[in-house]
Amino acid sequence: MRGVCPLLLLLCGSTCLLASAIPKEEILGAVRDFQHSSHDAGDFTHQASLDVLGRFNLLWKFDSETITFEAHAQTTGYIGLGLSPNGGMEGSDVIIGWVKDGQAFITDRFAEGYFEPRLDAHQDVELLSGYENGTHTVLRFRRRLRPCDTAEDREITEDTQRVIWSFNDHDPVDHGNVGQNGPHVLYHGRNRGTKSIILLQKNPPSLDVQDSSILTLELTSANVLVPAKETTYWCNTLRLPTLDRKHHLVKIEPIIQPGHESLVHHMVVYQCKLGQVPPMLDGGHECQHPNMPEEWNNCKSIMTAWAIGGKGFTYPDHVGFSLGTDDDPDYVMMEMHYDNPKRISGERDSSGLRFYYTPNVRQYDAGVLDIGVSSHPAHVIPPGAESFDTTGFCFGLDPYLQELGQPIHVFASMPHAHLAGTAVRTKLVRNGVLQSYVGRDETYDFDLQEIRLLDPEVVVKEGDQLITECTYKTTDRTQVTVGGLSSREEMCINFIQYYPRIKLSTCYTALDINQQATFFGIYYAGWEYPFPIYYPANLVNQTVIDVINQHPWTNEEAERFEQHVRNGQVMSYNLPDEANDYQLIDQPADPTVPDDNSVSIPGC
Ligand SMILES: *[C@@H]1O[C@H](CO)[C@@H](O)[C@H](O)[C@H]1NC(C)=O
Ligand SMILES: *[C@@H]1O[C@H](CO)[C@@H](O)[C@H](O)[C@H]1NC(C)=O
Repeated sequence: MRGVCPLLLLLCGSTCLLASAIPKEEILGAVRDFQHSSHDAGDFTHQASLDVLGRFNLLWKFDSETITFEAHAQTTGYIGLGLSPNGGMEGSDVIIGWVKDGQAFITDRFAEGYFEPRLDAHQDVELLSGYENGTHTVLRFRRRLRPCDTAEDREITEDTQRVIWSFNDHDPVDHGNVGQNGPHVLYHGRNRGTKSIILLQKNPPSLDVQDSSILTLELTSANVLVPAKETTYWCNTLRLPTLDRKHHLVKIEPIIQPGHESLVHHMVVYQCKLGQVPPMLDGGHECQHPNMPEEWNNCKSIMTAWAIGGKGFTYPDHVGFSLGTDDDPDYVMMEMHYDNPKRISGERDSSGLRFYYTPNVRQYDAGVLDIGVSSHPAHVIPPGAESFDTTGFCFGLDPYLQELGQPIHVFASMPHAHLAGTAVRTKLVRNGVLQSYVGRDETYDFDLQEIRLLDPEVVVKEGDQLITECTYKTTDRTQVTVGGLSSREEMCINFIQYYPRIKLSTCYTALDINQQATFFGIYYAGWEYPFPIYYPANLVNQTVIDVINQHPWTNEEAERFEQHVRNGQVMSYNLPDEANDYQLIDQPADPTVPDDNSVSIPGC
């Protein structure tokens, strides 16, 4: 049949469809095959499977102004693809496209709710090509990153995007309709989903791991019995290889035991020196547990980290993490965060990280700096808040930059908050003016935490301020959220990687419970969670946490409290240099933001 159809089409052209006795689908199949073979690969740089069953794959590439997508969906009906504010349909910028009679169609739409998206007033997607091949529909289209139609199209930024998708095995019946609602599509039913993707993620530098100079090392848990509780931090020490000369760590990659993709939530690798503590290769202990060797707490400097959703990290070509010299770690402490909300028991885990390292050292030694807010229960977030910001500063950097005698270059960032976190950003401020961001995600997703390459690198000079802000949403909570390690508690952290290396590893501010308590008329409280009240006398049998939980919270009250905390003093907390810790310091004011041209959009 295949050989016949193109011939028939050649002979009788379009009338063939009507005149021929061959089933219409078969004739269309021939046309599809023809179009398919002429379709070029498109040089796509990124790809993701949107559907766990692999029925909807997305390829894409971008330049400074546009992004080109190619959607492959297992249907011969219509396909839908959209950018959602939160993963749901409402407020989403959607395209719906299909192929009919060998011709591709696309419509630019907007979803006002959980019903068929209507046509945008302006059609701003450019259809490049499309075909069906008997099982799949493939559509290639291009759009602007920064849309002209700001009312109905969403801007694509480096933030995490909630990509929504759907398909249905029927094309629109009235596919030529250009009325207000456009061609009518049938409900997609269960053929739909959402996936968080950093569309504009820089691709990692290429590294040939087959190269004979590249050595590998696997740092994994030793068949750890994961406790049947929601949050476990498991600590284990592992010896690094003894090297006769300097090497560079150039890539890390997660090794996740199959089936443990959501159990293994994150891993942090801390550096330790021999002599600080003998490594104990017995499978490890719960971190902070009384049985954990006290000395393990000496392993405080972070070397690298991985978190759920991350693919690993490849250092840029001119940087590596130094191994094998006297200044380098002899062994590491791996901290595994197991997230086990269903409290499954009997699960054993051997996940970990694979290190790629090489004696071919690069130009610069990488350092890691952890900035933000100290993860302590004095970090208080009120319940029922649509949006609540916490701010952390890095006060300890200048002496190190002075000693170094040159600025540092930040090349990567990994923002980190927990379930209530909706945005994390670090502002670089010079002379009171916002310069740029040292990592930023305005639509943070706890389930997708990647080390992100900063391109261009961000140069931090003596006198600069690094201000890390986290935004939380607690409308689903009735009790206060406090800072801490479990995923129901919160963090506000940005792990940044930079060169040349300095000794500072942690640069936090710690919030002061007494400063915050004055908002509720409490003038003296103890430092230990849940913060017993000592004054005024009528509250002595309560704690600060009780009082916060009883407070009549509204969005306005949350905002007043946010301002109260932002205007008070905070304490600095730095590692390894604890000399200046716990001093109360005034918070720098918000930076001024230079005029950008955001009002007029170039090219519109
Ligand atoms: C049809 O297209 C899909 C998606 O690109 C592809 O996976 C599949 O192999 C193709 N089938 C044929 C018969 O070419
Ligand atoms: C606090 O509790 C103690 C012991 O229960 C009681 O004697 C005291 O009156 C209480 N104080 C206040 C202010 O409620």
